[in-house]
Amino acid sequence: MAISERFLDELRDRIPVSTVVGRTVKLAKAGREYKGLCPFHNEKTPSFHVIDDKGFYHCFGCGAHGDIISFLIDHDKLSFPEAVAQLAEQAGLDMPKPTAQAQRQELRHKGLYDLAEAAAALFQRRLASPDGQAARSYLASRQVSAEAIGRFRLGYAPADGQALVLELTAAGFSLDQLLELGLARTPDDGRKPYAFFRNRLMFPVTDRRGRVVAFGARLLQGDGPKYINSPESPIFHKGRLLYNLAAAREAARGDQTPVVVEGYLDVIALDEAGFGAAVAPLGTALTEAQVEEVWRLAPVPVLCFDGDTAGKRAAARAAERILPILKPAHSARIAFLPPGEDPDSLIRSGQAQTVRQTLDAARPLDQAVWETLLESHDTATPEGKAGLGAALRATARTIADPIVRDFYDRALKERMDAAFPAWPRRQRAGGGGPAGRAGRRPDPRFSDRHADVGGAIPQPPVPRGLAGAGTRELRIALALAVNHPSLLPEMDEALAGAEIRDPGLARVREAVLHCWTAAEAVDRAVLADHLRDAGLQDVLAALTGAEMIRTETAADPARPVEDARAAWHRLLAWTQRREVERELRAAAEACARDPSQQNLDRMLAIRAQAAELAAIGAVSEP
Ligand code: UTP
Ligand code: MN
Repeated sequence: MAISERFLDELRDRIPVSTVVGRTVKLAKAGREYKGLCPFHNEKTPSFHVIDDKGFYHCFGCGAHGDIISFLIDHDKLSFPEAVAQLAEQAGLDMPKPTAQAQRQELRHKGLYDLAEAAAALFQRRLASPDGQAARSYLASRQVSAEAIGRFRLGYAPADGQALVLELTAAGFSLDQLLELGLARTPDDGRKPYAFFRNRLMFPVTDRRGRVVAFGARLLQGDGPKYINSPESPIFHKGRLLYNLAAAREAARGDQTPVVVEGYLDVIALDEAGFGAAVAPLGTALTEAQVEEVWRLAPVPVLCFDGDTAGKRAAARAAERILPILKPAHSARIAFLPPGEDPDSLIRSGQAQTVRQTLDAARPLDQAVWETLLESHDTATPEGKAGLGAALRATARTIADPIVRDFYDRALKERMDAAFPAWPRRQRAGGGGPAGRAGRRPDPRFSDRHADVGGAIPQPPVPRGLAGAGTRELRIALALAVNHPSLLPEMDEALAGAEIRDPGLARVREAVLHCWTAAEAVDRAVLADHLRDAGLQDVLAALTGAEMIRTETAADPARPVEDARAAWHRLLAWTQRREVERELRAAAEACARDPSQQNLDRMLAIRAQAAELAAIGAVSEP
């Protein structure tokens, strides 16, 4: 029903969120807000906030967020018109008269829901009829119980292409409606419309509220695609819905972990094995909207894939979809079954235990990302490691949420450090730097290293290395490195991680790191020789030349190394500050577009980071 935004605003103005939410959630006043246990996920301490002033609720646990209307739709399971009608009555307002067009559309949708329901009932009847004998045997061979057949409302579509059309039109539905739902097709050659699903096992697909809106259909015998699915229709958007979503929501309320699997029969087998919160996409790869939908059941669902290459690829694709939309406290865990198996095949062969163990052992998303990238990089060489480092950083950068992105960046970097205590820290005779540092792996981010130089240089608090550095800054960094190689122990990680577009500079970086890793002792002369051997004398000349020294006086080898170290720290602080400021602008824009609590919190968090960096003071452009 088309209802004007003005009318909805009027409802929102008149009815406090707390009165609507308070009917089912026990709310306690906390300042200008209310707090309670979130009705959208299971929790023991309240993280569900209701803010009447702003007209919304927000759960910091599961991310549930909305206003009085969405609460009635998502929580009380009302349709939009029902929710509006109830609120209008409560506010003492008359419902606006629907336009004739809106009335027609509503009738049309209602007709389609009724039709989908009638078709599901027809398929169920046919499965029980003599017609359905082969389908019944097939289900028996797949060990689907009578109870599950009933609960999932499985059915059988008759082989006769006219039967369904005749029966449903006789029941009062129009041929147009059948065509609109994709239950019938009109052949090009002018013959009569015929049923789309014929001689197939039918899986009704229900919407969030449990209404039938579409069908999946499995081939029983003969040729053709194994599964076909209803097309999109006014009541079915396959990229947003999941198989078994309504029942899975109930199971998730009862504390079951949502599991996303690939097939209809996997969902049914899992359900029979006691995993009631299983869902599956509908004949397509998992979409962002489907992930958002599963997050409404629980913030960290398990995605379960086959262990073969196709499954690995599907998992990588799913990760690519999820990373950009990650938000605080929301993620996924990834589980791989033994190659060639799916949940159905394991459960039906008595290996439900394997399924349970696999799901329990599902790995956090960041670990799965790390393992996937590690497998696809040759890490035998420093360049290869640098490549892996760059890929890890690029992956973290696809995350839109700046806070999650920052933590991902760190987590992946820590995995890198743990896997490659590489860039070996050799104890160099005579040139190892201040005593006490040797042997200890310095943390390039929060170490007290600057205490070595009298505590004069504050350390940037945000661990980002040279991410986002421009060519100018990278050139200065490399100039500092080649002119003061004793800084390499504290520069190498940032250099290895920097994304360098200029090919000459990139080769210098590689050669410097290679020399640093391979040579026994590295000083200016050794490094210069190495760069000349690599054919990089021109770039080297530029990095050590008078013009560079004018740009960055600390790069002058005649200056003390402390000056160079200070310059290096300034450079890091500068690039990090610019990066944070860029994020701050983006967050402020997001806030202006949608002043939700979440966006507000995010902006405040980034602003705090920016302030911290600014407090380092005197951070001027290098
Ligand atoms: P699979 O091919 O993995 O089969 O399809 P399955 O689920 O194990 O099927 P069974 O056990 O042989 O019956 C997984 C899902 O991919 C979609 C369906 O949603 C199916 O459940 N699919 C598959 C299609 O849409 N079309 C196809 O031709 C095949
Ligand atoms: Mn299967």
